[in-house]
Amino acid sequence: MHKILMVCLGNICRSPLAAGILSHKMKKHGIEAEVHSAGTADYHVGQAADKRSIETAQKHDIDITNHVGRQFQANDFDSYDTIYAMDRDNYRNILSKARNENDKAKVKMLMNEVLPRENLEVPDPYYGGPEGFENVYRMINMASDEIIKKIKKQTS
Ligand code: 4NP
Repeated sequence: MHKILMVCLGNICRSPLAAGILSHKMKKHGIEAEVHSAGTADYHVGQAADKRSIETAQKHDIDITNHVGRQFQANDFDSYDTIYAMDRDNYRNILSKARNENDKAKVKMLMNEVLPRENLEVPDPYYGGPEGFENVYRMINMASDEIIKKIKKQTS
């Protein structure tokens, strides 16, 4: 069972979409996985995903309406094998909560799955228009395809 946590700042725009996209693909490929999301900030704890993320997901037949926002916490290092950060700020904030080297080794920049070591960011779409959300979808979709490929290679 693969346990993956997607992390952004508010846990309402990028990471709920990322968790929705990757778990949708995992199911499609028959891979057993739990993909969840969290935010480094506490602004939107208990809230649903941003309407624009819900709509973007729906356009691609993915349902994220049951999302409930929560904040990243140190014990998430115990619950997940891999923790993907959407941007460098998230990456730094997650690492600052790591308790040991084992925790640190779980943290990765999501887009490094597509372009290794480039530390490319999934841009925060919160203050922009709907095209920002479609861009976020496309980036996460590419990264999710790489994650699936990697898992399939490991198990073949
Ligand atoms: P997210 O986007 O990190 O992709 O969920 C944001 C959501 C809310 C805020 C910032 C980014 N905010 O400042 O409230």
